[in-house]
Amino acid sequence: MALLKIRHYPDPVLKKVAAPVTDFDEPLRQLAHDMAETMYAAPGIGLAAPQVGISKRLTVIDCSSRDEEAQLLVLVNPEIIDREGESCEEEGCLSVPEYYAKVNRSEKVKVRFQDLDEQTRIIETGGLTAIACQHEIDHLDGILFVDHLSPLKRSIFRKKWKKIQEHMTEQM
Ligand code: NI
Repeated sequence: MALLKIRHYPDPVLKKVAAPVTDFDEPLRQLAHDMAETMYAAPGIGLAAPQVGISKRLTVIDCSSRDEEAQLLVLVNPEIIDREGESCEEEGCLSVPEYYAKVNRSEKVKVRFQDLDEQTRIIETGGLTAIACQHEIDHLDGILFVDHLSPLKRSIFRKKWKKIQEHMTEQM
């Protein structure tokens, strides 16, 4: 068991298109386990492998609320195969701490993925889990939620981000 170091924007690994997972072995299980632990400790509701410096198509998600039992989703090689409706909710990201912005997403998604036993599965989901699936699958394609902002909002983000980084360095 280990907590992994979360990479922050603009770490180049976050911009890379991640490679498909081909080996469903013990190291993959260990990585998924450590990623889940890192996500819960942060705390966050989703974490993709590139965020811990590993450019592979693996993500963990848990959008259950504090008083519910954990509902961990481990998605290997996930793909959105259908989407429906629109939503625009505020998002954040463990790789872009202290910054939040509204992002246009689909309201519902159907996701095909493999589990840790290499079995293909399909989930249909809405609400927060649907947003998290879209956000995390974006990470596997080198896309951050701030990449969805308008040019104006993105320039505001860059200015704010400088201040956030200065603030974080002061805290260290
Ligand atoms: Ni993120």
